[in-house]
Amino acid sequence: MAALRFLYDCDPGADDALAMLLALGRPDALDMIAVTCVAGNVGLEPVVNNARRILELCGRQDIPVYSGAARPIMASRGRLSIMHGSDGLAGSALPAPTMPLASGHAANEISRIARAEGRLHICATGPLTNLALALLLDPDLPEFISAITIMGGAAFSPGNTTPLAEFNFAVDPHAAAIVFDSGIQITMLGLDVTRQATVTDEMIRQVQAIATPVAAEAARLLINYGSKDPCLHDPAAIAWMLKPDIFKTVQAHVSVCTDSGAASGQVVAAVSERHLSGRLPNCTIVTHVDAAEFRMLFAASLP
Ligand code: RIB
Ligand code: CA
Repeated sequence: MAALRFLYDCDPGADDALAMLLALGRPDALDMIAVTCVAGNVGLEPVVNNARRILELCGRQDIPVYSGAARPIMASRGRLSIMHGSDGLAGSALPAPTMPLASGHAANEISRIARAEGRLHICATGPLTNLALALLLDPDLPEFISAITIMGGAAFSPGNTTPLAEFNFAVDPHAAAIVFDSGIQITMLGLDVTRQATVTDEMIRQVQAIATPVAAEAARLLINYGSKDPCLHDPAAIAWMLKPDIFKTVQAHVSVCTDSGAASGQVVAAVSERHLSGRLPNCTIVTHVDAAEFRMLFAASLP
């Protein structure tokens, strides 16, 4: 079967970087055709630098990187995460990028690439600002997107940024609301499942034993980022695209709260007939993962 061609929208960020290493380690199954960047874990400039640093580490300077939104659509400013270190890669020694940034704004490039591909799969692991802007600029865009795999939200568990909201949805709740209202087929890997996808000492040892430059950086990221947040949020989204049978899911109608108060960014997931009250599900929520299988998949995929 041909590798799944997909566009990766992200905010690297150490776990986004680990997700990139996982995806790029499996060209037999995944074909990352473009990377679009959004401010989130750190500001836009380090995010676009980090995306290129990782691509160059993997010898994939052929993959274009597009810069995107430097701030959320409505919120006055984004929230920087303290988990990823000042450079966004938990203190990486990787050199500054030399590959050029591709020209064009991420929102416009998402639309152009989706139309060129005809039916584009998107994986998004940062605030959804670029995707929401693309949908606002190109109302017919859903016709050209086959599916979106999202790391974000918390449907049945507490938030990690506010008591009710996960980071990506807390940073830009309006963007998340626009994406979930788009009618596009969405799979959401929220904190409900990513809190199960944790790094272990054995996993780190397995990755260290691979003894390649990519695996060495992956092990460093697992150690440094994992010491602050052991949950491998973004790699879980890539793992879903690689091996969905190690996960469990539920169908739901998901909406995202855009109130300015305590519920901003909260996921409202209707599963039961009563809660659905006539609405059709618009989202596959991933609820469980076989964590041992996930860790084996990660370690086995690195070059
Ligand atoms: O809540 C975790 C998510 O927010 C991850 O995608 C992390 O990289 C940050 O973007
Ligand atoms: Ca991220």
